[in-house]
Amino acid sequence: MKKPLFTIIVISFCAATKFFAGEPTNGIVASVHPLATQAGLSALKSGGNAIDAAIAVGLTLGVVDTHNSGIGGGCFMLIHLANGKNFCLDGREMAGAAATRDMFVRNGKGDTSLSQVGALASGVPGEVAVFEYAEKNFGKKTLRDALLPAAEIAENGFPIPANYAKLIEAEKARIQKFPATAALLLPDGNPLQTGDILKQPDLAKTYRSLAANGSDWFYRGPFAAAVGDWMAASGGILTSNDFANYHIELREPISTTYRGFEIVSFPPPSSGGVHVLEILNILEHFDLKNLDDSTRLHVIAEAMKLAFADRAYWLGDPAFVNVPRGLIAKTYAAGLAQKINLTNTMALPEHGLPPDWQTDLFKKHTTHFCTADAAGNWVACTATINTSFGSKVVIPGTGVLMNNQMDDFSIQPGVANHFGLVGADANSVAPGKRPLSSMSPAIVFKNGEPVIALGAAGGPKIISAVLQEIVDMIDLGETPAQAVATPRIHEQWSPDQLYVEKKLPDDLKKNLAARGHKISELPQQAISQIVARTPDGKSFTGAADPRSNGTAEGW
Ligand code: GLY
Repeated sequence: MKKPLFTIIVISFCAATKFFAGEPTNGIVASVHPLATQAGLSALKSGGNAIDAAIAVGLTLGVVDTHNSGIGGGCFMLIHLANGKNFCLDGREMAGAAATRDMFVRNGKGDTSLSQVGALASGVPGEVAVFEYAEKNFGKKTLRDALLPAAEIAENGFPIPANYAKLIEAEKARIQKFPATAALLLPDGNPLQTGDILKQPDLAKTYRSLAANGSDWFYRGPFAAAVGDWMAASGGILTSNDFANYHIELREPISTTYRGFEIVSFPPPSSGGVHVLEILNILEHFDLKNLDDSTRLHVIAEAMKLAFADRAYWLGDPAFVNVPRGLIAKTYAAGLAQKINLTNTMALPEHGLPPDWQTDLFKKHTTHFCTADAAGNWVACTATINTSFGSKVVIPGTGVLMNNQMDDFSIQPGVANHFGLVGADANSVAPGKRPLSSMSPAIVFKNGEPVIALGAAGGPKIISAVLQEIVDMIDLGETPAQAVATPRIHEQWSPDQLYVEKKLPDDLKKNLAARGHKISELPQQAISQIVARTPDGKSFTGAADPRSNGTAEGW
């Protein structure tokens, strides 16, 4: 196995266009849940920095937004410190030592019901390890400071929001298979309803044990043993030893320039960072600001198609495959830009060939949150247990919902995962390997100073949402609130579709169809949060995605 040349950290949480009074100068927090935003704000107000705030947000989301993220999952955390240094903390899940390339193949065919639900679906979670590392190295508080208030919410309960209740209803049949999960979400056999109070005493106990004992309790103690025992009894492969062997990776951020700004993001196993940068490099060749709306969207969609074709072939865990750094080379983008015809879609049978494809380069349903403080620390963090309620498994006695991140591997060439993504050898299953992710936490700099932090939830649609928001803010001069609200498009090469949000104006949809795009309408795409400096640089602004119920708040 090759040693990775690049190591990283990422977390991402995003929210809606909810405005706050005044012009906050001390700091800002944006997340998908008001209680989580409040937890981050409290951390800032009680002397914490942006890192403390992000960790408080993440751990609170693990209580109030358990269908999206939690300590049974992983995260990518991108940090900019006031001293000018950037860090990528990779807390992506790792496959167990007994994982095999064909572990999801039955009767010759990849079976996504196994990679998405139940005992085989989980990798070793990385969120706890990232939060502990970030707190110890960059925070001013302790993990305990964030865990105890979150444990209190878990114990006392919180009212189930409408979107949460809908998801329980939608996943009822799969949740029923796992008694500890059903006891929590389907008390008396019926799904919790909007407004019902969800109390999680086991999760409260778990948070308190973590607060008292640190991550050893999780990775080398009773929690790892409980998971190992349940997996052994339930047909899973994860062992307590896999937990003991888990480690985060500190990776080198990747970056590119775009119209006078510097965009910094996450390297592989995030595909998001690479492809947001690759697409921006392509788009730089077009005067987007002066193109009419439909031509601009057409060009963006074609650039996405080129990048996603590359994703399917080249991207994987850099500890196992060589991901060419040439994918973000300006010269490569210049060649790809020439393939884009302004009036018609291109036929694209396969991926491109980046300049250094033969050498080692990047050797190396989810949530996004962002924070910033007056001292100059910024965090963009995307966290996930993958699809809603992850593997649907709550490990009995712990209250912890386990991820189904194994579905982010390519379980068999040509077999699409939950997000319709296909992959190749680069992203096949192997012991100790991290599945490819689309999480794309990013920080935008102007003249060396951070001015925007953003990211999104939504599988591959994360990449297109982050990309479009950067274009909307930089090329079109939109505010963060306008950028998160703008209707989105998404093109991922396979399937051959251009996904557009319903609220995209009809004339644009028609115009795009006339250019050859196969239009497919979706009610909404991705959930994103942004925090930013105001144009005068004196205060903060931010936005939580109007497609969700989050908040952005500063003080
Ligand atoms: N689990 C979705 C992603 O990481 O892309």
